[in-house]
Amino acid sequence: MTDLMEKIVALCKRRGFIYPGSEIYGGLGGTWDYGPLGAELKRNIKNVWWKDVVQLREDMVGVDTSIMLNPKVWEASGHVEAFTDPLVECKVCHARIRADAKDEIEKHGKSHDKKVDWTEPQKFNLLVKAYLGVLEDKQAEIYLRGEITQGVHVNFKNVLDSSRVKLPFGIAQIGKAFRNEITPGNFTFRSREFEQMEVQYYINPQKDEGEKWYEYWKKFWMDWYISLGINGDNLHFKDHKEGERAHYAKAATDIEYNSPFGWAEFMGIHHRGDWDLSRHEQYSGQSMKYKDPETGEEFIPWDIESSAGIDRSALFFLIDAYTEDDKRVYLKLHPKLAPFKAAVFPLLANKPDLVKLAREIYEDLKQDLMVAWDERGNIGGRYASQDEIGTPFCITVDFQSLEDKTVTVRDRDTTKQDRVKIVDLRDYLNGKIK
Ligand code: GAP
Repeated sequence: MTDLMEKIVALCKRRGFIYPGSEIYGGLGGTWDYGPLGAELKRNIKNVWWKDVVQLREDMVGVDTSIMLNPKVWEASGHVEAFTDPLVECKVCHARIRADAKDEIEKHGKSHDKKVDWTEPQKFNLLVKAYLGVLEDKQAEIYLRGEITQGVHVNFKNVLDSSRVKLPFGIAQIGKAFRNEITPGNFTFRSREFEQMEVQYYINPQKDEGEKWYEYWKKFWMDWYISLGINGDNLHFKDHKEGERAHYAKAATDIEYNSPFGWAEFMGIHHRGDWDLSRHEQYSGQSMKYKDPETGEEFIPWDIESSAGIDRSALFFLIDAYTEDDKRVYLKLHPKLAPFKAAVFPLLANKPDLVKLAREIYEDLKQDLMVAWDERGNIGGRYASQDEIGTPFCITVDFQSLEDKTVTVRDRDTTKQDRVKIVDLRDYLNGKIK
């Protein structure tokens, strides 16, 4: 692991962003638990995403579908047959590794005294199996969803019939997905349980608008990540060539992030054509057609999908925000994403008047914003502690506050302080958080 990754992993554990899953029992490979600050960060990512994708748009609606689906869904979607990664097995100790994970294979080779031989690559299906019902036989076997996508497609007709959507329109969803990853790693980057946020954007194939919407969503997401503070130099598109694409995609591109472990997939934009709806029509026997209200024509729409991992987003936001200078370490998180928007301090914890006024401000602000309280140690230590978790503003109640009802507000990135009237604090913070 690189030096920077070691620092990020240590900070996440120490300050309560991310812990190894089931740690007291020795862990469970590829699972992670989010602590108090990590839970806030993830919730903020999801809230900003939902607001920008659903709340502010008239062409989008949201759903929340089941993790457990009828197993036929996964036959229809092609995942039972094709959702595989190539796997090789060490002939010495039978360790199994992804055939394309060259570093892992090399590292493993060095762990044995003798030369390691590997089996030929075999296809390994990534769907996680579970049993539902009282019998643990073949009939009770289901899959935990390997992508959150299929719950949307199988409800395409329900959404059409129960809302006023008209093409082009999108269905958004946020939720957990599960994959039996052969080689989880790079902290949360490749996990076995993770969260996705996706848009399935349905378009009219007869208007030949595939290219237009595909390019539209590519630009939308690139701009979105940059607007939330990711350095644009650390992002690029990587198109999938023929033969590299998932079984459902006519065209696909990833937005990649320049991570400490190399350029790595942040999210994907996929032109899924009519693959999913056609297959569900075929396998379920139910029509998945859309009737054009103007022409009366019936057809199966195409889908331009945007699919992002929330855990990967959280990780890359943290890495990109991590800043060290000769004086301090701070997380330059966008205020919309920062776990706490502000922290409130009394200058001295042993002065009841200061504590009383600071508590009033804290109690008032927290009605609208996540706000931290700290009265431990000296003011410098409190600033350092908030900087390290990315709190953009620190509000200090000092002796002048008792006289003129103003406080100091210190900016995390510049460390400059403004003197702000207490009655204006809420507007001041809201103006900066936008
Ligand atoms: N519905 C399409 C789909 O799931 P994908 O490229 O397999 O496409 C989309 O996954 C996104 O989900 C990825 O770009 C990544 O952000 C996230 N993701 C996929 N596998 C992951 C894993 N094992 N751990 C964490 N995030 C993952």
